[in-house]
Amino acid sequence: MEDVICVSDYNKKVLETMNIEGIKIFDTTLRDGEQTPGVAFSIEEKVKMAESLDLLGVDAIEAGFPITSAGEKEAIKKICDMGLKAKICGLARSNKKDIDVALDCNVDRVHTFIATSPLHREFKLKMSKEEIMARAIEGVEYAKDHGVEVEFSCEDATRTELEYLKEMHRAVRDVGVDYINVPDTVGTIMPKAMRYLIKELVNDINVPISIHCHNDFGLAVANSLAAVESGAKQIHCTINGLGERAGNASLEEIVMSLMALYGVRVSLDTTRLTYISKLVSRISGVVVQPNKAIVGENAFAHESGIHVHGVLSKAFCYEPLTPKLVGKESEIVVGKHTGLHAVEKKLRDFGIGLTRDQILEIVEDIKLIREGGKKITDEDLIAIAAGYVGKVPDEEKEVKLEEMSIISGLRITPTATAILNINGTKKVGSNIGNGAVDAALNALKSIVPEKITLEEYRLEAITGGSDALCQVSVKMANEAGIKALGKSVGPDIVMTSVNAAIEAINKLRKINKEGKTQ
Ligand code: KIV
Ligand code: ZN
Repeated sequence: MEDVICVSDYNKKVLETMNIEGIKIFDTTLRDGEQTPGVAFSIEEKVKMAESLDLLGVDAIEAGFPITSAGEKEAIKKICDMGLKAKICGLARSNKKDIDVALDCNVDRVHTFIATSPLHREFKLKMSKEEIMARAIEGVEYAKDHGVEVEFSCEDATRTELEYLKEMHRAVRDVGVDYINVPDTVGTIMPKAMRYLIKELVNDINVPISIHCHNDFGLAVANSLAAVESGAKQIHCTINGLGERAGNASLEEIVMSLMALYGVRVSLDTTRLTYISKLVSRISGVVVQPNKAIVGENAFAHESGIHVHGVLSKAFCYEPLTPKLVGKESEIVVGKHTGLHAVEKKLRDFGIGLTRDQILEIVEDIKLIREGGKKITDEDLIAIAAGYVGKVPDEEKEVKLEEMSIISGLRITPTATAILNINGTKKVGSNIGNGAVDAALNALKSIVPEKITLEEYRLEAITGGSDALCQVSVKMANEAGIKALGKSVGPDIVMTSVNAAIEAINKLRKINKEGKTQ
């Protein structure tokens, strides 16, 4: 692991006092994940995700809540028939009807639950502690009698009185429960309190404790790991952290934290994490935020000059683990914070060799374009770089644009005024045209002393969208019939056309001077 993970050595100091091993991953994407507002999976979608979760290597898949609908039941049944390695679990309230439907699907495990907190007892169930306990016992006993594994949850456990919670757990232990899950149903506990609670529960009974955390305060992963630190042996989680309200603990964050930070041997094929995250995002319609840990688009992307320089010389400088471990690649993004190294590396990868000065000019172009709000894709970068191939160097340019103003609109003759610096002398000129580009190019032509004609004009959008960068190529000729091509790339059609024309004018002058033809 040394060569693929590089994390803080302080972790080792605290791990010495913990005994974390044999942690089981219980995936509930198909059940709690489906309870994400606005999300509903079809039978085929559930089957596809179950197959992928099994290939990923999770220990258990909560395939759904079978009593919910006939379609839900059919999906769970199909998943049970797939012969997957993972244990297939179905959720059921603590009553025979729910449990029967789950058993009918042929699940390996029934997960029964009933709420136990004072709030739920009084306002939701309107039941006494004793009635709730009787129901819980009856449910677990009934499911156990049918030969399946049984997991039991006190819903809203983290807001339930500790003594009552322990009594509930002892009661279901006495009728043979296999796992006791502790739901932080509304995500209201903090990690230190979670450590305390789980220690109390683990020390009280000899049944594996599982943890189920919601993310209402963004602490679902931290709380799940805190529970593991205190002896929990199973973690409920979902792909991309889907789930009720703010979601559940994210599987990819849990698994990679266990592996990288806690040094736990994880039997999952972590290289599948990015794929499954994309699959679940596409099926659920819930977009993964770019800065999401582990699987987000930016999780291994670098833009700022300092970071790119660091990553290029040693990836661990700014990456705690090798992205391949989670099925990703490092990415260098060009933008406002880009430096020379990033552009140089990217262009080298594309097989484009330019001088250091040209690359520095490209870096400036990128910053200007990015500040204008346009994201720069690889295609954009290639086009920008192509514009520099054969370009007249700045110090050799005889004609430079100082100012340009264009008036255009409805029922107005497009008019442009330009100020050019020609060999150190400023010259002004105005002209009209058929449109803004025509007026701008005519203004340029009216200022330069030589007679220049526009032979060809080509405009292309590099990528899709109304904010795509455009690429303009202009072919211009002088009186001697010498022709030169000017190219430019930018976000604005008129100014990009002007820059291309200025480039062509400078080339014409250079060729004229050197007595060459092109
Ligand atoms: O959050 C919760 O309490 C649940 C239970 C059904 C386990 O999802
Ligand atoms: Zn839940």
